[in-house]
Amino acid sequence: MEDFLPSYLLAYGLDWFSLLVRWLHLITGIAWIGASFYFVWLDNTIRPPKPGSELANKGVSGELWAVHGGGFYHPQKYLVAPKDLPEELHWFKWEAYSTWLSGFALLFIVYYFNAQAMMIDKSVANLSSLQAVGVGLGSLLFGWIFYDLLCRSPLGKRDGLFGIVMFVFIVAVAYVLSTLLSGRAAYIHVGAMIGTMMVGNVLMLIIPGQRKLVAAMQQGLAPDPVHGQKAKQRSVHNNYFTLPVLFIMISNHYAMTYSHSYSWLVLAGIVAAGVLIRHFFNLRHKGITNWVYPAVGVLLLTVVAIAIAPKAPVKHVQAGDAMTSAAQLIQVQAIIHARCVSCHSAQPTQPGFAAAPAGVMLHSPELLRQHAARVYQRSVVLKDMPLANLTQMTESERAIVGAWVETAMQDNKK
Ligand code: HEC
Repeated sequence: MEDFLPSYLLAYGLDWFSLLVRWLHLITGIAWIGASFYFVWLDNTIRPPKPGSELANKGVSGELWAVHGGGFYHPQKYLVAPKDLPEELHWFKWEAYSTWLSGFALLFIVYYFNAQAMMIDKSVANLSSLQAVGVGLGSLLFGWIFYDLLCRSPLGKRDGLFGIVMFVFIVAVAYVLSTLLSGRAAYIHVGAMIGTMMVGNVLMLIIPGQRKLVAAMQQGLAPDPVHGQKAKQRSVHNNYFTLPVLFIMISNHYAMTYSHSYSWLVLAGIVAAGVLIRHFFNLRHKGITNWVYPAVGVLLLTVVAIAIAPKAPVKHVQAGDAMTSAAQLIQVQAIIHARCVSCHSAQPTQPGFAAAPAGVMLHSPELLRQHAARVYQRSVVLKDMPLANLTQMTESERAIVGAWVETAMQDNKK
């Protein structure tokens, strides 16, 4: 590879690849979740037609009127199916499949191709790249098998209890992953696992069920309602999964969540809040408004926010510290050069990085001053930088950086 494509160009190409695939993932994800929200809303909002009306006689089980985009819509639902199969039938499946395929590709581009930096945290577990990737892929497969078996078990018919067991399962997986991978990789794999369950539902249950329905009708047989019931169960699950998954997909921007030492518990709180808020909307579409659910959800988020608030850091500057700020800056610069600049510079030397991550460059004193507050937040307070502590920054170095930023901030106040 090195012969015809130098590694900095390879990393640059990978960045573009990542950009395009991430863009695609976002677009298909919006199309999928958007359609899914729409159909759940439709199902909860349609009302049965008047008995004896023309619609009722046609076999319509629910209908509604809507106005949108310059016209009126009149969707009607046939449960289980209309008497005659229409010539043209729209299916909704590629939104889901392409969301999963692009997400799976992103796991490789962002995490698996760069496992040392993105997945492994030596202070958590000393895994090899291959082991870390194995844990990641294993969690997706294991999650699907467990979930699918649980749906088919007698518990699958008891919605409330099923929800609780699934919640405990997801939190347990988050806990186990947090003991093996970096916080960020642990979170994303919980999200990818739930996403895999959602797409598995579409691929293995919902679409095959619809196929059987259509096939039966083409043969002139009465369609079996059991396929519809199974599909409905899975699509209700998918509905409750959406808010938690969407949080996890943006969590990598919020180091305060995944880098906390109880990251799995933080995730549990946020996931529960997402489910409660989703439940509120589902009930509301049916005409029931119960503010207890979102209130508990918001309360949970508040509790999490308070619980993970950073403690006021121990002051690193002591009264009477003799060091001049010039001497201090030289010392800090040396530390930043040794621990951060391999990634955070105009041309990173760290393999796999084509440009300064998040645009933060720290190779000159001016830049260092410019980003001082963020440097403080990530390397002194949250301590999730250097990434996976790849460059092995020590506690005393963090204290020195802390003291310098605190002095600088005091000087600014004067
Ligand atoms: C191995 C590469 C690597 C090293 C070494 C590294 N970082 Fe980072 N840094 C990243 C990546 C990747 C991101 C973007 C992802 C994120 O925000 O988690 C990032 C993000 C940041 C941000 C956040 C920018 C924002 O969005 O606010 C700051 C601040 C930061 N790093 C500071 C540091 C400091 C200070 C050091 C040294 C003590 C350091 N980094 C060492 C890879 C690295």
